[in-house]
Amino acid sequence: MTEKDFIPHNYTINIESGSFTWQSPSNIALVKYWGKKENQIPENPSISFTLNTCKTTTTLSFSKKENNDEFSFGIYLDDEKKDDFKPKIETFFKRIENYLPFLKDYHFTIETSNSFPHSSGIASSASGMSALALCLMSIEKQLIESNVSLSAVEGLFDNDYFNKKASFLARLGSGSACRSIEGDLIVWGNHKNIEGSSDLFGIKYPYKVHENFKNYQDTILLVDKGEKQVSSTVGHNLMHNHPFAQERFKQANNNLIKLTDVFKTGDLKAFTEIVESEALSLHAMMMTSLPYYILMKPNTLEIINKIWAFRKETNSNVCFTLDAGANVHILYPEQEAEQVMKFIQNELVAHCQNGHYICDRIGYGSEQML
Ligand code: PMV
Repeated sequence: MTEKDFIPHNYTINIESGSFTWQSPSNIALVKYWGKKENQIPENPSISFTLNTCKTTTTLSFSKKENNDEFSFGIYLDDEKKDDFKPKIETFFKRIENYLPFLKDYHFTIETSNSFPHSSGIASSASGMSALALCLMSIEKQLIESNVSLSAVEGLFDNDYFNKKASFLARLGSGSACRSIEGDLIVWGNHKNIEGSSDLFGIKYPYKVHENFKNYQDTILLVDKGEKQVSSTVGHNLMHNHPFAQERFKQANNNLIKLTDVFKTGDLKAFTEIVESEALSLHAMMMTSLPYYILMKPNTLEIINKIWAFRKETNSNVCFTLDAGANVHILYPEQEAEQVMKFIQNELVAHCQNGHYICDRIGYGSEQML
């Protein structure tokens, strides 16, 4: 598929107003996306677990407006007007206008809330942008289905197209958001060994996944709830002219091949090695950018060292990953949940800000609520 496949034919619309609500989860990358080309095209493919508990609920209400020469919208987080979110949404609308030509015909009200606290250091961009993209897709679906006889749209607006275009749009809001439409394991970025993979949208991992990964657990330790000092946008840009960029992109491609093997065999030791190496490579890119920076905190390292010591002592399969921040995602198989939770409570919670952590696990993707 190419970008052109997401440009709709003219709608001969007449829908005055309406509203849709979607709930969309966050995701955690196992092989990381870090570095992008123009138009949010990733430099390397990535793969993630879709989460279950950390999610955003968004209601998008729309009503026809008189003039259609500019975007018009209001945005609310937990019923509070959030004008500081407007530039991000405006940029998003500009990027997707070509693919959703109705955007300037309506005034939109975006009401959003997160299942996790706003100041938790958990990025809401993946769940937030995917939830908004899904609401917009519901409008487009309605515009098409109410005007064309159903037989003519059959195949065009099937679930597969709907999800692909939602992922395509979400990507233009925030790259990793394209991995939040479906679950439970999502690949984004073209990889020659993964059939159907694309730089334009996320797809469900198409091969067999071993029982060991069923209901995998992710306990997110909130080490630092503050705003990051360096945004992901700046971080991605620092991969241009980065001395290790090409090697890093190669490494990610190789790690994805290795993971396909791990998913087949269920080898949890190999899983740990790939996932932890990916997390540390991501942060190594930050430390070797110019300007260089560090997002990990002393407690991030304390936690990592304790995980390594615990694994040595117990032969547990607990491992960690990091996103672009100080918080630590603790990943482990469901069968080890009791033992790992005890370890977290006894040894790791002390390193969390105010003792806070979130128990999450692998999830199955977004859901339409209304
Ligand atoms: O989607 P962005 O632009 O916020 O970038 C996210 C990048 C990482 O979370 C660090 C890695 C990933 O693949 O999710």
